[in-house]
Amino acid sequence: MRKNIVAGNWKMNTTVPEGVELAKAVNDAVASTDIKCDVIVGVPFTHLTAVKQVIDINKVGLAAENCADHNSGAYTGEVSAPMVASTGANYVILGHSERRGYYNETNEMLKTKVDLALEAGLKVIFCCGESLEEREAGKLEEVIGAEISESLFHLDAEQWKNIVIAYEPIWAIGTGKTATSDQAQEVHAFIRALIAKQFGEDLAGDTTILYGGSCKPSNAQELFAKPDIDGGLIGGASLKCDDFMGIVTAF
Ligand code: 13P
Repeated sequence: MRKNIVAGNWKMNTTVPEGVELAKAVNDAVASTDIKCDVIVGVPFTHLTAVKQVIDINKVGLAAENCADHNSGAYTGEVSAPMVASTGANYVILGHSERRGYYNETNEMLKTKVDLALEAGLKVIFCCGESLEEREAGKLEEVIGAEISESLFHLDAEQWKNIVIAYEPIWAIGTGKTATSDQAQEVHAFIRALIAKQFGEDLAGDTTILYGGSCKPSNAQELFAKPDIDGGLIGGASLKCDDFMGIVTAF
């Protein structure tokens, strides 16, 4: 059964006390609302332990926004997948375009991160998406195909069940410029077909594919109504409980 998910990606926002307040508010809102999807908050490393204490992990999943490509050792400033898992977090966001773009994360490096995350017992929200230049040059399928196949297609079917895909067109992130629901659906269908070729129709049908990029309460319903859009990965609108819940309740 395919799960619908709305996940927040707070990025580098909020202090720990602010983050705890926000997480508490989301947890309370989820507990008191009839919701029809899974809810996850993706928070900075520094917030994981404190946020874990104020949420019911059975109702609100907890994600780190990255993890290292090594498990331990002399890698100053890095945080490994086992460290993330030891906070009680159950997800990690990997391959966000901001990490690929600003910190030079490659498909090869992400393959290692995916392996270490799964080994640590974390589920992976794996991001992919094209830039405007790539879209206009007709390279969308090539770029997304490489991101997904080079970092994920070495997995076996059992491991695949712990992967959530997030399609985030780079030109739509934080720009207020959402992909139209038809544009998003077209790419989601392409991604699902790609997964079907590798893992078969059943597993592809069970895979959750999220849309991310200027998703907000006013456009979530139209996006989520599309057959291959199973929820959202939410940046800016996840920083206000009311906006985030406006998206959660779009299902
Ligand atoms: P915005 O919702 O702020 O556009 O960010 C999307 C995103 O990057 C989520 O990972």
